[in-house]
Amino acid sequence: MADTLTIIDNRTGRQYEVPITDGAIRAMDLRQIRTADDDFGLMTYDPAFQNTASCRSRITFIDGDKGVLLYRGYPIEQLAERSSFLDVACLLLDGELPTADQRQAWTSAITAQQRPPAGSERLLPGFPRDAHAMGVFVSLVGALSTYYPDAKKVTDPDNRRRQIERLIGHVPALGAWAYRHNRGLPLVEPDPSLSYAGNFLRMLFKEDGREYEPHPVLERALDILFILHADHEQNCSTNAMRGIGSSHADPFSSLAGAAAALYGPLHGGANEAVLRMLLEIGSTDRIPEFIKRVKAGEVRLMGFGHRVYKSYDPRARIIKRTADEVFAVTGRNPLLDVAIELERIALEDEYFVKRRLYPNVDFYSGLIYQAMGFPVEMFPVLFAIPRTAGWLSQWDELMRDPEQKIARPRQLYVGPSRRDVPES
Ligand code: SDX
Repeated sequence: MADTLTIIDNRTGRQYEVPITDGAIRAMDLRQIRTADDDFGLMTYDPAFQNTASCRSRITFIDGDKGVLLYRGYPIEQLAERSSFLDVACLLLDGELPTADQRQAWTSAITAQQRPPAGSERLLPGFPRDAHAMGVFVSLVGALSTYYPDAKKVTDPDNRRRQIERLIGHVPALGAWAYRHNRGLPLVEPDPSLSYAGNFLRMLFKEDGREYEPHPVLERALDILFILHADHEQNCSTNAMRGIGSSHADPFSSLAGAAAALYGPLHGGANEAVLRMLLEIGSTDRIPEFIKRVKAGEVRLMGFGHRVYKSYDPRARIIKRTADEVFAVTGRNPLLDVAIELERIALEDEYFVKRRLYPNVDFYSGLIYQAMGFPVEMFPVLFAIPRTAGWLSQWDELMRDPEQKIARPRQLYVGPSRRDVPES
């Protein structure tokens, strides 16, 4: 049997052979299917791209039915247990885990970029004191494009690498600045002697005039959470990164757009929404009443469901295990009992079982962040910082892909046909 699709257009009786490659047909192969010479040809209609591959990628693979997540072929469970976030960032970008020498060079390159450009901290007073941390983060990332005009040379691989190192190095400070601004606290300069996660914790929580040492359990837990959030195929925010990047915009502007997409409550804003949902439910005895509202379509069970995973999100399983280690240090988060009971009920309830709705990466992460002292508005920032490595890996892959060009979807026009403006 050949790897082709035979299509018979019943409007004309004509038959077409369309090749099948990697389990897909090229949408452009459908344009030959016409009813007349001036017919534009057949298109596919796929709102929200539920069944459309936008690119070929070698970075991340998900099997939603089996709950499998691989970064460059390595299972997420093994990377969370045996690797570090910076090693994983290197893996996503370069395709291999670094050797000891490569790790040294990579860590030095990122550490050299821990401090955003001098003067960029003067942007902060322009934000309201109660500005949402993610709104500040998105704005600061975009603003950095004005400090690095050389970032526009997007077709130069060496220049791309320099911007990639700048962004991965800078984003922890940008996140910490948003947090410190909200609290009217002085900014804390980066400490190059600390790990990526440790330096971030110190820039957030160091008290004036006192030394700060990150707790090793919390530092490792955050590093694992960063690994779990680093990349995830062509999700909404990565699609934004690729879409903006396809116009050859600089990576700071593209990444600001990706972070803006992540801010949405259906995407990266879900971990904040989960915490607010658990706080609203308050206690396990109020869960049945909430489930009733979900089934009535009044509210969504935030932290549940996924476009790809139709089984347990493997990241949620790891996060749930990491929560126990964090709570052993911080004290148990009382909302954990509500979350565990909510999960137990949902996993047995026909409404959720029929729709294959399981806990996703956001369901438990917020509980850990809250226990570690992060306010809920910092949760999407905690997602954006590690996902910066994934967004940039996908962007770099886009820029190297000879098949790619500026993204411009078609549409099915269903509006009014030509008409004349009435004579006045
Ligand atoms: C992330 O793509 C990624 O990889 C994203 C991410 C990443 O790492 O980048 O994994 C991170 O964004 C995880 C998802 C975080 N979002 C949430 O937890 C918000 C709550 N989840 C839903 O809004 C929803 O599940 C989505 C948005 C995640 C997925 O939505 P889909 O695939 O478009 O599914 P759908 O909206 O078409 O829903 C199918 C059915 C519907 O019911 P019916 O119309 O068939 O009756 O399932 C229902 C939906 O109403 N449904 C839910 C639900 N999610 C879907 N019902 C209640 N609660 C939910 N959470």
